[in-house]
Amino acid sequence: MPEATLTIPDILQRKPRGEKITMLTAYDFPMARLLDRAGVDLVLVGDSLGMVALGYSSTVPVTLDEMIHHARAVRRGVTRALVVGDMPFMSFNVSREETVRNAGRLMKEAGCDAVKIEWGQGSGESLDSVRALTEAGIPVMGHLGLTPQTAGKLGGFRVQGKTAQTAQKLLEAAAGLEEAGCFAVVLECIPSQVARLITRQVNIPTLGIGAGPDCDGQVLVTHDLLHLTGAFYPKFVRAFARIDQRILKALGEFKGAVRSGKFPAAAESYSMPEEERKKISRPGRGVRGAPKGTRK
Ligand code: KIV
Repeated sequence: MPEATLTIPDILQRKPRGEKITMLTAYDFPMARLLDRAGVDLVLVGDSLGMVALGYSSTVPVTLDEMIHHARAVRRGVTRALVVGDMPFMSFNVSREETVRNAGRLMKEAGCDAVKIEWGQGSGESLDSVRALTEAGIPVMGHLGLTPQTAGKLGGFRVQGKTAQTAQKLLEAAAGLEEAGCFAVVLECIPSQVARLITRQVNIPTLGIGAGPDCDGQVLVTHDLLHLTGAFYPKFVRAFARIDQRILKALGEFKGAVRSGKFPAAAESYSMPEEERKKISRPGRGVRGAPKGTRK
């Protein structure tokens, strides 16, 4: 029997029980199915889609329509986990109305269970976006620390919150997100000590990525932990497999087998009964290949 679908209260209950939460990214149906079969709790259709699957150089160009297209495929592959859709750059923080309309599309058109918002620290506006969404009944996950959509403003892809002052800001931001109604918050690329302080301070679960072991759960980009993209991997990524090497080996073997005539073999080909084959006349020829008119 399939396992029961998870709910947001199920995720919230994990924190007081000290049960770790897992979240991984998916952008298509087959990966979503594998994550769900593996028992991952939250499947994030991250806007990392842009860099990992669409070949953009940042997440900024990702559109809401692209997110919806991929989230729909992910949704079809997931029955147990919660599906979280990332709100791409400029789809929130615009106006309350537009923010709610855009998040509503991720829920209604793609079937997401919740949305995620990157909160560029110090921007009162995005806290207001969170409030608008939670007031509209849309579950929101926050995202603090290194927020790739605004990485330029943060000085690039670097660890955030390394000074007492910036760490303090992160603590305040996490409290603000909780107060505005977020049900969980991603902490990306911050010192473990700061992540531990935030995790102890807020009642909502924290999901760390490059934020040390003391968060309530961990999230990674699936293509990173599988080493699927052959790209640069940050220090916090552990290669749980090296799929790119296996894929390259398999592709090389396919090429070699085709070139040497070893693929396909008889067992990989279909055949028909010999008596049927004999009845086939080729166009312009008589039975069994004799040119037309030569056979009496
Ligand atoms: O877009 C994404 O995949 C993310 C994760 C890195 C948390 O936001």
